[in-house]
Amino acid sequence: MSSKTKIIIDTDPGIDDALALFMAMADPNTDIVGITAVNGNVDVNKAEYNIRRLCEFAWHTDIPVYKGCDKPLKRSKINAEWIHGNDGLAGFDFGTPSYQGEEENAVDFIIKSLMKSSEKEISILAIGPLTNIATVFLKEPKTASKIRELIIMGGAFCEDGPRGNATPYAEFNMLADPHAAEIVFNMAPQISVIPMEVGMQAVADKDFIEKMRDINTRCACAGADLLETAAKILKDCPGNEPVNQIGTSLYDPCAVGCLIRPALFSGRYGSVQVNTDANSEKFGMTSFEEGSKRNCLVMHKVDRESFKKMLLDYLAALP
Ligand code: RIB
Ligand code: CA
Repeated sequence: MSSKTKIIIDTDPGIDDALALFMAMADPNTDIVGITAVNGNVDVNKAEYNIRRLCEFAWHTDIPVYKGCDKPLKRSKINAEWIHGNDGLAGFDFGTPSYQGEEENAVDFIIKSLMKSSEKEISILAIGPLTNIATVFLKEPKTASKIRELIIMGGAFCEDGPRGNATPYAEFNMLADPHAAEIVFNMAPQISVIPMEVGMQAVADKDFIEKMRDINTRCACAGADLLETAAKILKDCPGNEPVNQIGTSLYDPCAVGCLIRPALFSGRYGSVQVNTDANSEKFGMTSFEEGSKRNCLVMHKVDRESFKKMLLDYLAALP
């Protein structure tokens, strides 16, 4: 019986998703039973293709890859190619994958994986919009309580600071599918949430990117190139990212960090609400309530230096 933690990663690569996937692949205590693609930073076809590129680049073609939902539950589709590039990976040449993705749809794969496990043995890392996860819960409600641990990168909760990176009020993963997020935050019995403001504490600045490049492995150098490209774009056209940020927030890698070393993060228990009013300027905004419903552990702090060192150490363990 393997003592490794079985996980499914639901993702929309995406520059920060790429670093997160590398980190998860490098963790000796994690067994990635599948990676599922969702529409988000780029459309689901590009996301699925990028997952296979990244797996092959890190010599992990043993991990099955599944295509999921190609559009949000209700709202119109949005992407974030302005920062991630038209191909989703800043134009970096990760090569063409030599293997195919799975025929089975991501939603059916996740349902089957969760329902066949007798006890809670599979954790889910959701680092893109929550369309796939919500569709899983809607199609088979029993799955919600079969998840060992659900970790979500998304949302923004600080009352007195930048509240969104996709609009002034909404973080991208939430804005991209607010209705899916509302379903997941209501149905999952236990969620760890890594919001935007925690990712912004772990910024990949120039010095960090140089340390990554100095590792001098193919994955570390690729990671450095991706982050450098994103940092340049943010500097020239910051969009809704905080303009004082010199670098790229390590959003999705923080979610992997929370899975691997939760002690690096601190948060508070409560419930999460999502604004699903498409006519509101606050569409996609998330709010936190400390009250009787306490299914969400929303992080507000990360030990940034320990986390960033962990990311470098993990990258050094890859090809
Ligand atoms: O707001 C940051 C999140 O949106 C990250 O997951 C990033 O990859 C994008 O999906
Ligand atoms: Ca992502």
